[in-house]
Amino acid sequence: MIDYKNPKFILDSSQLEPGKVRWRSPSNIALVKYWGKYGQQLPRNPSISLTLTQAATDTTIHFSLKKSDREIDLDFYFEGQHRPDFSLRIEKFLQSLLPLYPFLKQLHLRMESSNSFPHSAGIASSASSMSALALALCSLEQRFFGTLAYEGEFMRKASYLARLGSGSASRSIYPYVSVWGEHADIPAASNEYAIPFAEDVDKIFHTYHDDILIISKAEKSVSSGAGHNLMEGNPYADSRYLQAGQRLARLTAAMRSGDLTTFGQITEAEALTLHALMMTSQPSYLLMEPNSLAAIRQVQAFREATGHPLYFTLDAGPNLHLLYPDSIATEVKNFIRTELTPLCQDGIYIADRCGKGPEELEGSVK
Ligand code: PMV
Repeated sequence: MIDYKNPKFILDSSQLEPGKVRWRSPSNIALVKYWGKYGQQLPRNPSISLTLTQAATDTTIHFSLKKSDREIDLDFYFEGQHRPDFSLRIEKFLQSLLPLYPFLKQLHLRMESSNSFPHSAGIASSASSMSALALALCSLEQRFFGTLAYEGEFMRKASYLARLGSGSASRSIYPYVSVWGEHADIPAASNEYAIPFAEDVDKIFHTYHDDILIISKAEKSVSSGAGHNLMEGNPYADSRYLQAGQRLARLTAAMRSGDLTTFGQITEAEALTLHALMMTSQPSYLLMEPNSLAAIRQVQAFREATGHPLYFTLDAGPNLHLLYPDSIATEVKNFIRTELTPLCQDGIYIADRCGKGPEELEGSVK
């Protein structure tokens, strides 16, 4: 186990100049899903995801010397509004990091966060926000102590910290494709952080599309945190964890060889398995809507009629993610506009793509 505790990360307050760090970090969509956890946000099974572009969070941390006696002195602004209600989760998270970053107790932090997609789209993502925050914290470490100069170490620590904030956020750190969780076939994979996987797959996935159909903007009735916890009593849990590892092996082989049919079949099976696990939890629950099913049927019919490798996946919610290669983008977009947007709330869908991962934004002080 990595031990990032460091009581020496204390600032000489007479030297501290106020400054800021800024990161943009994207969301990601899991192909093999992480569902079930133990200990400190450790996954019960390995997962793999595509890193997205459009669905991203920008986070700026302005820091200065603390003047109040609050342990974590944080002012949090979301899309320009002071949000003490959102601030609580972040304060708790920062508090939990004090053994790693005791300097957080010495600072006043003004955090500004905004999403690059409409908040009203109902896809608020803890993966993008927690990964942006983790990267900003690593920038603070590098700025104050110079201990993360090596990029590989910087990203690994960012992924580790992001995981503590929200498991799936660990995967947003890397471009195109990431794997999180131990697996016999992938010696570098770890439960504590995600690893980059883009070089291990066919390049066709680097330009893959993910169009997100907003079937409903409503907030989820059961949070993913509660969903993970319900896996503890799920009678299918053990076989599910085994299955996830087997699917990951088959999926990575298909992605390596560019076999889009096997890729799509496993991806769809995973989406339905995730929702089946919700339906078989005690108490059981359902996050799909009638229009999620209607859209699934349409996607299957399109595939049948055209032979095109258009497949869907689902997150822990009703919205469909449509995955397809760039070569069929024009046809798929026409299909979405004519057949699928009528199934979306207010006709909204978000055209997203696989992307290069997080970026440090201008104005950040190294
Ligand atoms: O990171 P969390 O705790 O919000 O869990 C996310 C779980 C899924 O999005 C459903 C699957 C995944 O692997 O991203």
